[in-house]
Amino acid sequence: MAIRLELAAVSKSYGHDKNQITALHEISFTLAEGEFLAVQGPSGSGKSTLLNICGLIDPPSAGHYSLNGTALSQLNTKARCGYRRREIGFIFQRHQLIPAMTVYENIAYPLLLNGIRKKQIKLDVEQLLVRMGLIHRRAHLPKQLSGGERQRVGIARALIKRPQLVIADEPSASLDHQHAHAGLQLMRELNREYGASFLIASHDPFVIDRCDRKIELLDGRLGAST
Ligand SMILES: Nc1ncnc2c1ncn2[C@@H]1O[C@H](COP(=O)(O)OP(=O)(O)O)[C@@H](O)[C@H]1O
Ligand SMILES: [Mg+2]
Repeated sequence: MAIRLELAAVSKSYGHDKNQITALHEISFTLAEGEFLAVQGPSGSGKSTLLNICGLIDPPSAGHYSLNGTALSQLNTKARCGYRRREIGFIFQRHQLIPAMTVYENIAYPLLLNGIRKKQIKLDVEQLLVRMGLIHRRAHLPKQLSGGERQRVGIARALIKRPQLVIADEPSASLDHQHAHAGLQLMRELNREYGASFLIASHDPFVIDRCDRKIELLDGRLGAST
């Protein structure tokens, strides 16, 4: 089922007392089912904070957040983890691959966690490796790859389980245009083929131009949506 996210007056603060920083101020927006939405904003504007909340990695400090009409506060830990494991693919700014695992193992891991059979995993992972131009790197460790290759492995790992919600934190940051294009192309295909919803933080015009709509963050506040 496609995923709709609704945020109403979501705020997030870090630290305590006089060291407290408010990274998000009463953010409200809806990511519609199947929407491909960009979050634009300069460094420090709160993009990663917002994405971590939307991807169920961090809780908000205040406000309401719902997934397909179910308030986050109504989901117990098990339901929240289930959502994250099955329905949400997260592409991290710094890819966060597992250093001791090969490219193949890193990408296969989410499928293993979801109990998919080894034979099916092999088919799916190899097909995606070919699509991402990474098949010749399948047995390499992350430290043996270039920054761009690591980022592509991070994209493949997030997309392999065909999640219904993909959260991408500056997915093209360390990619040249050709590779950014391949990554974005794959994201768009998943969006069209399975109706997955996408929330993509970026300040790359190449990415933003290819989104359905964009919202803009500045100092933790939401500006106009276009
Ligand atoms: N874990 C944290 N602890 C304290 N402050 C943080 C933390 N994460 C982010 N911040 C602060 O929150 C603000 C927004 O950061 P972030 O969400 O990373 O912005 P962006 O992704 O747009 O660069 C910044 O002022 C940053 O220093
Ligand atoms: Mg960030």
